[in-house]
Amino acid sequence: MLSDETRARIESAKKVCVFTGAGVSAESGIPTFRDAGGLWENHRPEDLVTIEAFERDPVLVWRWHLWLQNLCHGSQPNAAHEALARLDSASPEFLCITQNIDDLHERAGTNRIVKIHSDLMQIRCLAKDHVTQLTTALDEHSIRSSDDFPKCPKCGSPCRPNVVWFGEMLPIEPLDRARRFASRCDLFIIVGTSGVVSGGYGFTEMAKHNGAFILEINPRKSELTYLADISIRLPAAEALPELFGTIPGDQD
Ligand code: APR
Repeated sequence: MLSDETRARIESAKKVCVFTGAGVSAESGIPTFRDAGGLWENHRPEDLVTIEAFERDPVLVWRWHLWLQNLCHGSQPNAAHEALARLDSASPEFLCITQNIDDLHERAGTNRIVKIHSDLMQIRCLAKDHVTQLTTALDEHSIRSSDDFPKCPKCGSPCRPNVVWFGEMLPIEPLDRARRFASRCDLFIIVGTSGVVSGGYGFTEMAKHNGAFILEINPRKSELTYLADISIRLPAAEALPELFGTIPGDQD
């Protein structure tokens, strides 16, 4: 799959930054957004993942998020998530920057991670922005009216999903940490993102400007392909174990 020189360049990296999108969870059975059969094939993001949609029809927005939350919570990490978790434990410096709101990276064992679109397993209250981490998915059919919205355990006010919707600001601390690490890494691995949204975040450009080797893993061309030194046109759950499968798991 790779030349000896490229493999040596990847294996010698000391500061590894991984940037993932929905494609890394595709082989766990979670649909991506823009592929055939993806989430945006039958829904308009404007109707589900904007503050205007929530103000217009909060029950529809909550029910879609609960459907996705239960789908993600019921899915298992795949070989791609597991290979990246091994890479995390084996790399002197590592950061996974994910756009994904599922928790499959964490459940596979990736510890050094920033979630720039926040987390489907969190709720945030409308009154004071208190964030609560859920330990299990909420009952998918529990919301029939705004009276049924999850209540904040701290102040009792109704909550929304704590995910970044279109048109909203990214959380500052994760974004700042992502940009700082992308700017100083020596290997930047893009896994399973179209780059349609994330192209504007600038992580890949920052890594490239620092002289990092840019590796893309995606069966198809993306908006970030032009920045890649190498693009591996394979599914993540096949390519990543092949690249990093020999790394021992967590040291016992
Ligand atoms: N392995 C690797 N990549 C894959 C796989 C796979 N098995 N299957 C699909 N892909 C690739 C597709 O080729 C595509 O480039 O994953 C990418 C998925 O792209 P999108 O559906 O646009 O998802 P993503 O890039 O994560 O979207 C970014 O947009 O809608 C918002 O907030 C949402 O976080 C999301 C953001």
